[in-house]
Amino acid sequence: MQEVIFDSAREKFFDEFSNRWDQSGPSPATDVVLTFLRKLHIDSAKTVLDVGTGTGLLIPHIFSFHPARVIALDLSAGMLEKLREKHSTRFGAGLVILQGDVHLLNLPDTTVDVAVCNGVYPHFRDKSLALSQLHRVLKKRGVLAVNHFAGREFINSIHGSSSHDLIRQDLLDPAATLSETIAGYGFHVKELRDDTNEFYVIAEKI
Ligand SMILES: C[S@@+](CC[C@H](N)C(=O)[O-])C[C@H]1O[C@@H](n2cnc3c(N)ncnc32)[C@H](O)[C@@H]1O
Repeated sequence: MQEVIFDSAREKFFDEFSNRWDQSGPSPATDVVLTFLRKLHIDSAKTVLDVGTGTGLLIPHIFSFHPARVIALDLSAGMLEKLREKHSTRFGAGLVILQGDVHLLNLPDTTVDVAVCNGVYPHFRDKSLALSQLHRVLKKRGVLAVNHFAGREFINSIHGSSSHDLIRQDLLDPAATLSETIAGYGFHVKELRDDTNEFYVIAEKI
C-alpha cells in the first residue's frame, strides 16, 4: 500500500498566503452564505467539519445555526493562526481547531453530521482518497457539500493563471461531472448548482 504523505507543498503555498487571505480572498454576502448553509440542515445536535477552513470565513455563519461542535480543519498553521485570532475566544469549546490534511483525516469513523468543503475541493491532491475519508467520518445520512461562492469559470481562471505549478492544475469539473464522481463514493446527490455566481454539489451519505 502506498504511504499517504501530508500535502506540504500546498501547505507552504497557503501558509504564505495566510497574511493576505482576508484581504484578497472571497467575501460573499452574508445572505448568500446563509442561504447556502441552510441547505445543510445544521442544528444543535450536529457536528460540522469545515474542511479547508482557511481563516474561518464560514465559522461565524455555521455557529449562527448553533451546532454542538465545529471542527475547523486546515493544512496551514498560518491560516489557522488567523482563525484563532478572530474566532477562538468567541466560540469557546464548541470550536475545535485541527491542523491536518483531509487525505490523512485524523477523526473517528461516523462522527460527523455535515462536512463542508468551501473553496478547497480542487486543491485535494487525491480526490478519491479525500472522498473516501469524508465518507468514512460522516454518519449515515450525513451531508457532504462541495462549494465555491463564485462561478466555476472564475475559479478555474484564478487557479489556471497561478504562478504556482500545482495550483495551476487545481481545476474544478462541471458540477454534473463532480456529482457523478461523488455518487461513486457512496453518496446520493441531492442538489447542485453551477452558474456564474455559485458552484455547489450537496450530497448525503447512503
Ligand atoms: C482557497 S482556501 C479557502 C479557505 C476558506 N474555506 C475560505 O473560503 O475562505 C483553501 C484552504 O484549504 C486548505 N487546504 C488545501 N488542501 C487541503 C487539504 N488537503 N486538507 C486540509 N486543508 C486543505 C488550504 O490550506 C487553504 O487554507
